[in-house]
Amino acid sequence: PEPTFLREPILDWYAENARDLPWRRPDATPWGVLVSEIMLQQTPVSRVLPVWTEWMARWPTPAALAAEPPGEAVRRWGRLGYPRRALNLHACARTITAEHGGEVPSDHATLLSLPGVGEYTAAAVASFAFGGRHAVLDTNVRRVLARAVRGEQYPPRSTTAAERALAEALLPEVGAPTWSVAVMELGALVCTARAPRCAACPVAHLCRWRLSGSPEGPPRKGQA
Ligand code: ADE
Repeated sequence: PEPTFLREPILDWYAENARDLPWRRPDATPWGVLVSEIMLQQTPVSRVLPVWTEWMARWPTPAALAAEPPGEAVRRWGRLGYPRRALNLHACARTITAEHGGEVPSDHATLLSLPGVGEYTAAAVASFAFGGRHAVLDTNVRRVLARAVRGEQYPPRSTTAAERALAEALLPEVGAPTWSVAVMELGALVCTARAPRCAACPVAHLCRWRLSGSPEGPPRKGQA
């Protein structure tokens, strides 16, 4: 089927099934979105929630965090793991304060220049915080597209030009950020890596992997 057939069922499913997460609410700030994306890179939502909430209460702006020594950021990182991310976020706060007037930049290239901000995070912040039209290719999105469109159990180990082209072709002209978060949520809640809940999937009837009998791909050590 045409990949764009996926859009309506996935958007309808998201409207019914989205988790209410504070960084997705209309009152979330770009800083709150940036903090969430860096925390969520290697850590599940349930563990991020309390730390994010406390962090944003303590440091509601980049300037507030920039005024602290870096060790304080690490201390408040708690047990999220990979504490280098706390130092990166602190360095982001200092750069944003010193070079961007205290405002998280909205454009993808400038975001990419911030410490610890890679392609995924730049696209996520430009999209979710500012409404930009960018393909947001996290592991969940990549897995959904691998299965539904490409008929493969798992995406390639690192993002390919073909995946990027597909994700860009799927972006709607209007509402790209909602589309991206909807696919991400489907991957997180239904189209999971090891035990996909195909009976609950709004696109099971279109899914190329499912329609071909859900063949096992090669074992993928470390696949999230
Ligand atoms: N919403 C926006 N970005 C997210 C992420 N990386 N993980 C979970 N929910 C999100």
